[in-house]
Amino acid sequence: MAKTKAKPSARSIYRCSACGHVEPRWLGRCPACAEFTTLVEELERAEPPRMGAAGATDGASPIALADVPELDARARLRCGLAELDRVLGGGLVPGSLVLLGGEPGIGKSTLLVQMLAGIASASRGRVLYATGEESVAQTALRARRVGATPPNLDVVAETDVDQILSHARGSEPAVLAVDSIQTMYTSTLDSIPGSIAQVRECAGRLLAHAKTTGVPTVLVGHVTKDGALAGPKTLEHLVDAVLEIEADGASAYRIVRSRKNRFGSTQEIGVFEMRGAGLVEVPEPSALLLAERPKGAPGSVVVASADGTRPLLVEVQALVAPAAAGFGRRTAAGVDDKRVALLLAVLAQRAGCDVLGSDVFVNVAGGIRLSEPAVDLGVACAVASSARGRAIDPHTVVFGEVGLAGEIRAVALAEARLAEAAKLGFTRAILPAQNRSKLSTKSSLELVAVDRLSAALAAL
Ligand code: TYD
Ligand code: MG
Repeated sequence: MAKTKAKPSARSIYRCSACGHVEPRWLGRCPACAEFTTLVEELERAEPPRMGAAGATDGASPIALADVPELDARARLRCGLAELDRVLGGGLVPGSLVLLGGEPGIGKSTLLVQMLAGIASASRGRVLYATGEESVAQTALRARRVGATPPNLDVVAETDVDQILSHARGSEPAVLAVDSIQTMYTSTLDSIPGSIAQVRECAGRLLAHAKTTGVPTVLVGHVTKDGALAGPKTLEHLVDAVLEIEADGASAYRIVRSRKNRFGSTQEIGVFEMRGAGLVEVPEPSALLLAERPKGAPGSVVVASADGTRPLLVEVQALVAPAAAGFGRRTAAGVDDKRVALLLAVLAQRAGCDVLGSDVFVNVAGGIRLSEPAVDLGVACAVASSARGRAIDPHTVVFGEVGLAGEIRAVALAEARLAEAAKLGFTRAILPAQNRSKLSTKSSLELVAVDRLSAALAAL
């Protein structure tokens, strides 16, 4: 296929990312705002690229919002991995651009090839997987290993985005995937692959293609150490959805969450386990997360958490130990350490459990990260249990937000949390009084409604 070179009219310019000043050549310092190394290459365009009917610009006259037809759920492409489809909001939306991020080696390519195979198996068209990271042989090796080799899944090892687009125009795939956006380049820019200019331009071209043809496109993106997607922040603004794969340390569990989703909730998570044959869905993560729980050991409590619409029971562990140094250290994994510090202060001031002079370790078992306030009560109970050396009844779950005055505040999804706990054989729940009074369904659990942290600790 002929190489689709951009028109000679597309000239490179250098725009300052701080003030927007434009120079014809790269300069180390912007002459307008005097910032250093802010000039980034881009293509000078006579007119901005037009996007087709599927895109943000449709060129039509305004119509009543109420008359806009609803997005047809059947048009979504499901990959058959329910954990992933749910995070996407029910499958891939035609014409959408999705960014799949994660640290190196976490399983992005594995998840991608499994997803593409699932879509290919369910579709009559072809699916195109373009990789700039690995050879075709390496990609095929992984695909065979995870059983992802339907006959209509094509692979091409290519880093020239214009070539990939010309392949895509030729085969009109049901889905296009590009692994990774940081390895892509266009020869119309002088900047090296992975540079802000290249990442932005390549993503822009893939976006325009997705919007004009309706081909959903998945981009793999690398994440830097501090968790940011490498490359320009603009990439996150550009795409319709940002999915992230995360894991905790050496844990085999992989959590997929959406940081942004124009076509679904960002609250959903999908849980997978990395095995020898790829990523395996964990549809019942609660049972799995609780399997290794030590029963009758002080410092362990089960929290009925809810990430998104799905409740998740997790074990929160705490260990209070005499301070090694002159002052107490706090180490938290899976929960925010500032939140832990706040809870320790509330425990000391409002509930008569002072561990401020001790070392305190808090850990969420299974490598899960919990960011919702309902976990507060679990952390506080686990710390108090360890400090007092008294185990919490293993058939009790807790949830609730803890306020600075030591009050227990209501949280969302109380019914779903209780139902999940009942399903897994728990018999007792300690929950916010405000939630208790609003329950519409009867729970099979013994419900202990509390309005103060001290009352919760007494109930345990
Ligand atoms: P990979 O998908 O290549 O990660 P990424 O694209 O995010 O860099 O997966 C890398 C790791 O996953 C690798 O260290 C080996 C492990 N793995 C398995 O444990 N089982 C498998 O079936 C596969 C394909 C990978
Ligand atoms: Mg990879």
